[in-house]
Amino acid sequence: MGFDLAGLPVFPWDLLEPYKALAAAHPGGLIDLSVGTPVDPTPPVLRQALAAAADSPGYPATVGTAALRQAVVQHYAQVRGASGVVPDGVLPTLGSKEMVALLPSLLGLGPGDVVVHPHIAYPTYDLGARLAGATPLPNACLDEIPAEVAARVKLVWVNSPANPHGAVLGPEALRYVVQWARTRGAVVAADECYAALAWEEPWASQGVPCLLADSNNGGDLTGLLALYSLSKQSSAAGYRAAWTAGDPELIGRLTAVRKHIGLMMPGPVQAALVAALADPSHVAAQRELYGRRRALLTQALEAAGLVVEGSEAGLYLWVTTADRQDCWATVAALAGLGILVAPGSFYGEAGAHHVRIALTGSDRDMAQAAARLAP
Ligand SMILES: Cc1ncc(COP(=O)(O)O)c(C=O)c1O
Repeated sequence: MGFDLAGLPVFPWDLLEPYKALAAAHPGGLIDLSVGTPVDPTPPVLRQALAAAADSPGYPATVGTAALRQAVVQHYAQVRGASGVVPDGVLPTLGSKEMVALLPSLLGLGPGDVVVHPHIAYPTYDLGARLAGATPLPNACLDEIPAEVAARVKLVWVNSPANPHGAVLGPEALRYVVQWARTRGAVVAADECYAALAWEEPWASQGVPCLLADSNNGGDLTGLLALYSLSKQSSAAGYRAAWTAGDPELIGRLTAVRKHIGLMMPGPVQAALVAALADPSHVAAQRELYGRRRALLTQALEAAGLVVEGSEAGLYLWVTTADRQDCWATVAALAGLGILVAPGSFYGEAGAHHVRIALTGSDRDMAQAAARLAP
C-alpha cells in the first residue's frame, strides 16, 4: 500500500461538531441521530455466549471456527436463499467496515485499476480504493462508463439496502451487475449489512435479494463476495462481528493476506456470532423496534413539512425539504431543535439536498424528537 497520509480526506464527522454543539445547547438536550450507532442493549443470547467463551488463551484461526463457518453457510441457505455458500467461502471480519476499506488492497488492486461504487454512498468505498492506490469511480449507471474506463474496472461495489437512502436492488439489477462485471473480469462485492431491515413491499415479506442467492448469479459464485454484519441486526456494533462470504477462491486469497496481518476475530466474539445466528427471534424483535421508531419519526417529519424519500429499507430516513434546500441548512434547522442529523453531502455531491436521519434513538429520544418537530 503506497498510501499518502496527506491524501486522506477530512474525517467527515468532524465537520458536524459545530452543529452538535448547537443541538446540545437545546434545553431538552441533544438527540443524536447522526452517526447511527445502535443504542438498544445487546440481546442476552450474544452476551451469554460471549461470556461462556471468555476463557480464550489461544490464538483464534483467521478463518474462524468450523462452527462459525457452518453457521454462516446455514444463514445464507435458510435466510438469504443462497445454497451455494460453502465453509471455505466464509471469512470472519472485525466489523464489515475494515473489509470495505481493505478489500481493494487485499485483492491486490493498485494504480490504474478502477473501483466502481454507488454515486451516493458510504464514504469508505472511496477511501478503500484510494488506500490501494486505485481510482474510485462513483457511478449511478454501469452502462454510462466509457469503454476504456470499463476495461480497467476490477471491483464493483453494490450496497443494498443502501446507506444512506435505503434503496433495495431487485433481482434483475443484481443479475445485471453480475453479468456486467463478469464480462469484464471484475469482482462484485455486495455490502448487505442492512438486509434484515426491510420496511416496504415486496422486500418486507420476500426479504432483500442477496447477491449470493442462486437465482441472482446463475448458481455460480465465481467473482462474487457479500459482506454482512451483526452490528445493526443484533445491536452489537461493539462486538465487531461480521463476515465476508462467496467465491471460495477469492476468500482464500483474502485469508492468505489477513493471516499475515493477524486480522482474526476474537474467539469469544466468534462464539457470540454463532449463537446470534441460531436465534432469529432477537433479530425480529430488533427489527420491530426500529420499525416503530421509523413510523413515528416519518409521521413527525412529514407533519413538519419535510419530505421522506426512498428509505424503503435500512436504518435511516433520507429527508429533504419541499424546496430541496441545501443539506446544511436542514442540518442547522434540526440542530436548533436539538436534533443532530447527517448532511447528505457526506455521501456524495448528489446527496447535497438531503439529510440522513438514523433510527437509532432510544424510544424516549424518538418520542422527544417527534414532539420537538410538532408544528
Ligand atoms: C453501508 C455500510 N457498510 C458497512 C458498515 C460498517 O458496519 P460495521 O463495521 O459495524 O459492520 C456500515 C456502518 O454504518 C454501513 O453503513
